[in-house]
Amino acid sequence: MKILVLNGPNLNMLGIREPQIYGSKTYDDLVDYIRVEANRLGLEVEVLQSNYEGELVTAIQNAYGKFDGIVINAAAYTHTSVAVLDALKTVGLPTAEVHLSDVNKREPFRKLSYVGLYAQKTVCGKGFDGYGECLSWLKENIK
Ligand code: DQA
Repeated sequence: MKILVLNGPNLNMLGIREPQIYGSKTYDDLVDYIRVEANRLGLEVEVLQSNYEGELVTAIQNAYGKFDGIVINAAAYTHTSVAVLDALKTVGLPTAEVHLSDVNKREPFRKLSYVGLYAQKTVCGKGFDGYGECLSWLKENIK
């Protein structure tokens, strides 16, 4: 089973960016965590990060026919991007949405998730472990 893990803008700055919210671990630490979890679950993963909305859209489109599911932390584009939502609907792959922080307990504008209008599963506020939970959910739920 092949899973695409997509990370949106500013997640490459983990460790530097607002450590009181996102913690002190770096983006490389996150990628290592994802690889270890995927390996443990027997999943193949590709992990991509982009600061550009269009690159995320293209990565989702390119997943069609190549991946069995998507884990996505669209970061700020979660709350703004109809294009990311449309791309997810276009390819129709099983999708789990993840956020490191608990977006429901932050500013009101973070409560709206376009990604969440398509994703079949959402995990937020669990830090890196949320990615593991999403991978494991996809493993159990992909037919
Ligand atoms: C985030 C939450 C978003 O609201 C924010 O814009 C991010 C990161 C998270 O992982 O907690 O960049 O997706």
